Amino acid sequence: MQAQVSSSASPLLAVRDVSVVFGGIVALNGISFNMQKGQILGLIGPNGAGKTTLFNCLSRLYQPSKGDILLEGESILSRPPHRIAEVGIGRTFQNVALFPNMSVLDNVRVGAHCRTNSDIVSDSLRMPWIRSGEKALNKRVDDILGYLDLRSVAHTTVSGLPFGTQKRVELARALAAEPKILLLDEPAGGLNHEEVYNLGDLIRRIRDDRGITVLLVEHHMGMVMSTADYVVALNFGRKLAEGTPTQVQNDPDVIKAYLGSKDEQ
Ligand SMILES: Nc1ncnc2c1ncn2[C@@H]1O[C@H](COP(=O)(O)OP(=O)(O)OP(=O)(O)O)[C@@H](O)[C@H]1O
Ligand SMILES: [Mg+2]
Repeated sequence: MQAQVSSSASPLLAVRDVSVVFGGIVALNGISFNMQKGQILGLIGPNGAGKTTLFNCLSRLYQPSKGDILLEGESILSRPPHRIAEVGIGRTFQNVALFPNMSVLDNVRVGAHCRTNSDIVSDSLRMPWIRSGEKALNKRVDDILGYLDLRSVAHTTVSGLPFGTQKRVELARALAAEPKILLLDEPAGGLNHEEVYNLGDLIRRIRDDRGITVLLVEHHMGMVMSTADYVVALNFGRKLAEGTPTQVQNDPDVIKAYLGSKDEQ
């Protein structure tokens, strides 16, 4: 059963009693939950619930005031945000954050870079291991472009692409770093109905094909409920409920919290 799986002994990621205080505002208040390998975990909650704050703790943009976050049993809290890809945490941004004047290919290559063993000296001397590393990188990037149906726009500048395609490029960039956990910040935002459901399918395919664990922060309730295996609901910085999508959807506290906000139905 999912509820038991979530509390099993060795989760991939463990959020332990995390609190975040901004000035006088308690944005997160003692949040704990586990993520199992291969799980798609949906993080939901009305406006101001603390979803983005928690997401930013996981991607290391915010430092919790209390508690710990463990990846495979090791705390990630001493890592700065730019060193988080190395341990296997990849992310996308709520508002697309690509290099707009670079091609799709180059944007995805940037993502792949944290998995190469190059440095500036061996790079400039064109050492043999750099050339073979580059070949492997090119192949990996090409595979991902094919996987996300982006080969035909590989040489197009990102700023000229429709928003939905830009979001796919961002996903490609995150995948190129070969993450263990992919953190998605409202990936359905700004997409039309069909694109939202295609995205849900794509997220499940990424998990099934690549074994990547996904944390999905999303306002679009239908998308979360049809995509996630497990859901954690927050409200006012506290954990309101966790369980399967059906359990959470039917939880009286969750229903009350959503009826009390005009946020999303
Ligand atoms: N950088 C910050 N400085 C001060 N307060 C903040 C900051 N970030 C968030 N907060 C506050 O923390 C609380 C949680 O905000 P958060 O953005 O995490 O909510 P959310 O669940 O992502 O909401 P939304 O659905 O609107 O995106 C809110 O009261 C918010 O005003
Ligand atoms: Mg938010």
